[in-house]
Amino acid sequence: MSLLDDVKARLNIVDVVSNYVPLTQSGRVFKARCPFHTERTPSFVVNPERGSWRCFGACSEGGDAIRFVMKMENQSFGEALRSLAVRLGVPLPSPRQQAQMDPLIRANEEAMRFFQRRLQSPDGADALAYLQDRGVAPETAAAFNLGLSPDGFEELKVHLVGQGFTEEQLQRAGLVTRPQQGSSRDLFHSRLMFPIRNVEGRVVGFGGRELDGSVPKYLNTPQTPVFDKSSLLWALDAARDSIKLRGEGVVVEGYMDALMAHQQGYTNVVASMGTALTDRQVAALAPLAKSFVLALDMDAAGQDATMRSLKTSWANVPNVRIALLPEGKDPDELIRNTPERWPEVLEAAEPRVDFGFRLLAQRVDLNTSDGRRLLTDELLQWVTTEPDDSTQDRYLEKLGALVGLTRSQLEQVLQRRARELLESRSGRRQSQPSSAPVHTPSALFERDDPLEAYSLALLMRDPDLRDAAATLRAEFFRQSENREVFQKWAECSTMEELKEDLDALLQEHLESLLSREIPMMDYKQRTESFAQMIRRLEERQLREQRTQLGATLAQAVAEGRDTSPEEEELHRQDVRLREIFSARVRRDI
Ligand code: UTP
Ligand code: MN
Repeated sequence: MSLLDDVKARLNIVDVVSNYVPLTQSGRVFKARCPFHTERTPSFVVNPERGSWRCFGACSEGGDAIRFVMKMENQSFGEALRSLAVRLGVPLPSPRQQAQMDPLIRANEEAMRFFQRRLQSPDGADALAYLQDRGVAPETAAAFNLGLSPDGFEELKVHLVGQGFTEEQLQRAGLVTRPQQGSSRDLFHSRLMFPIRNVEGRVVGFGGRELDGSVPKYLNTPQTPVFDKSSLLWALDAARDSIKLRGEGVVVEGYMDALMAHQQGYTNVVASMGTALTDRQVAALAPLAKSFVLALDMDAAGQDATMRSLKTSWANVPNVRIALLPEGKDPDELIRNTPERWPEVLEAAEPRVDFGFRLLAQRVDLNTSDGRRLLTDELLQWVTTEPDDSTQDRYLEKLGALVGLTRSQLEQVLQRRARELLESRSGRRQSQPSSAPVHTPSALFERDDPLEAYSLALLMRDPDLRDAAATLRAEFFRQSENREVFQKWAECSTMEELKEDLDALLQEHLESLLSREIPMMDYKQRTESFAQMIRRLEERQLREQRTQLGATLAQAVAEGRDTSPEEEELHRQDVRLREIFSARVRRDI
């Protein structure tokens, strides 16, 4: 759970606001004189169900508890969140945890240098011979900082303790064991060490290959506060620029595969470290290029994993192809023995839809109607990801021939699916009245806002939606973290820039947005679905404003005060709401 989640789970807007202004309950809401401007009658309203506040007077502004503190204390998002964490007794990850993570990384980096020296020492003769045998040039080994772990019980530990690291830190870094009793020992023995770097290029862990037949073949650093194998890609820091430059990234499975590719000048290659890619790994790659080739192991388990990952993690990456390697060959062998064949293999890679067709058609019984229905449903999902109309047509033809449906029958199925998709995903749930009791803790409502999160996730994943987002405004987001991410995004031109710009806490939030599961949609569906979500966001905001403005207006009328500016505003909002409503109706038909 992130700090943000932790804080939001405990936030109660009424408590937060009443720290600054006395609140009076009025039906389902609380009122106060606005703390942000001087006024006689209270136009500041706190809604505990929504976890939100709004001033209907001169400021006409609103937001959630974090935004309230930001304004009240004149703090940045990160500052406000941290001060709320302190008030709520939520332990802060930084700077304390930062300070705790730093030694773990420094220990890994010192271990890397230690392993490198060992490889060059007389003890390293066999390992160097092994590398030579496998065709790894000394320069390549040096460029990737390969090393050798000693065979003693605690040589690394003794060295690192001598450098000032505590045994506890070494345990937390995953470099030594955590025994039930007795003292800890080195984790890696007599292994060829591949340092694993995070996006910043810092060493956070290792993969160690056996050289003497011991198991496992590769021993990896266990999960630590700085090492999460499922979010890292080996050689990504070395491949990043090349992937951008070539406009294409290649994913292989093994350390040796990526190493050999880089050695031969194919520097746009990263290694998945043995598994199908996770959402977080794809999120790290996807912004770098438009096109990716997966050159993965295709045994049955591998195929299943790849299919799953193509449908989920890779769903919104436009051009993904699967390279078919010559029978029984690793990229490593292929590149070493016949380097000129590598580009040919990549060139011939199969577009993911063809791959899906081939594999799925093998798996169902086309002689049964159930089999045909299953295949149709499944393949339509694949076909509709194709951005290009003529390609989509070609696949629809192919699918029709396969399952014996006419083009118009297929289109009917497609239309039904598209409708279902829009309905289930565009946050319709949001507009249903909530039957929650007045005093339910606001935490229940503040934790997630699917409409906001989903539209923002779509936007962050798909640079093509930038134009479509022109009508999206920061005020439409009730959740401060979403508002902040959106605002910063609007100021940045690339995701990388955005990541650099964001407070660490918001980076985490961005990661979680990026890792949300998004169903496969073609470009048209995506833009329409997105446009509809923007309208819903705006509608939601206007409705909220209007309801409460209406109350203010009624009160003003009752008190016999001049009301015209608010009436005008109310009228403007009514008009806009009707526009939105009619746009929505048109779409829904
Ligand atoms: P492979 O078994 O294909 O190994 O696993 P490899 O990379 O081709 O290694 P060589 O050529 O035999 O030296 C692919 C990747 O899966 C992960 C490693 O990242 C490896 O590079 N793996 C494999 C493990 O993490 N643990 C293992 O025991 C095996
Ligand atoms: Mn191999």
